[in-house]
Amino acid sequence: MSEEPSVVTEAHFRYLAQRTTQEDAFLRDLRVSAAKAGIPAISIDPAQAAFLQVLLRGAKARHVIEVGTLAGYSAIAMARALPPEGRVLTIEVDPKHAAFAKEWIAKSDVAGRIAVHLGAGKDVLKTIPDRSADACFLDADKGSYRAYLDECMRILRPHGLIVVDNAFAFGQLLDEHPTDRDVPHIRAFNDYVPTVQGLQSVIVPLGDGLWVGVKT
Ligand SMILES: C[S@@+](CC[C@H](N)C(=O)[O-])C[C@H]1O[C@@H](n2cnc3c(N)ncnc32)[C@H](O)[C@@H]1O
Repeated sequence: MSEEPSVVTEAHFRYLAQRTTQEDAFLRDLRVSAAKAGIPAISIDPAQAAFLQVLLRGAKARHVIEVGTLAGYSAIAMARALPPEGRVLTIEVDPKHAAFAKEWIAKSDVAGRIAVHLGAGKDVLKTIPDRSADACFLDADKGSYRAYLDECMRILRPHGLIVVDNAFAFGQLLDEHPTDRDVPHIRAFNDYVPTVQGLQSVIVPLGDGLWVGVKT
């Protein structure tokens, strides 16, 4: 018989964050420098980064695609979970973000594993061959998530992983009158994901909610 799920409170999130692999000094410095450079503080949090690393290591991923580089925080975190020959291709539309990320990636311990591609997610994803990636991480413009997911279902190898951030719509998912204009996009996407053929998926309540799926 199934049990009632536990209610997850802010205290639980603090508890799990304290018991999750912490970010190192390099990623902390990156975060601080990005804020000083006027880059919005919207990268994934350390617990989400640790979770992505666990997933990628478990899947023995080698080729990862990311849409939404920002300052390079998640790309560096993911690259660290890959073997030396592994690669993260991360796509960013904003030249300022891409330039900042390239600078920090070059200084990182995984410089050789990450390529930043300046361009729009939809355009770049179209150029990536079928069944060529082990994992895709979507963390960019929410109105394009459905199109990105469809492309990633083509790009992923069988049993490939898909992870998508912000399933909780910046905390406004269940608000009656949400203020963020992306909330309807996230709601529509959350309703779309369970209908995608060949994808087993679940929302994991980490950070702002992560969709995690496997191409079956
Ligand atoms: C939430 S941030 C990404 C955070 C990053 N994944 C991390 O955790 O470190 C979203 C990024 O997506 C970029 N973006 C927005 N629209 C995009 C598009 N159409 N194609 C590619 N990147 C886009 C934004 O410029 C921004 O840098």
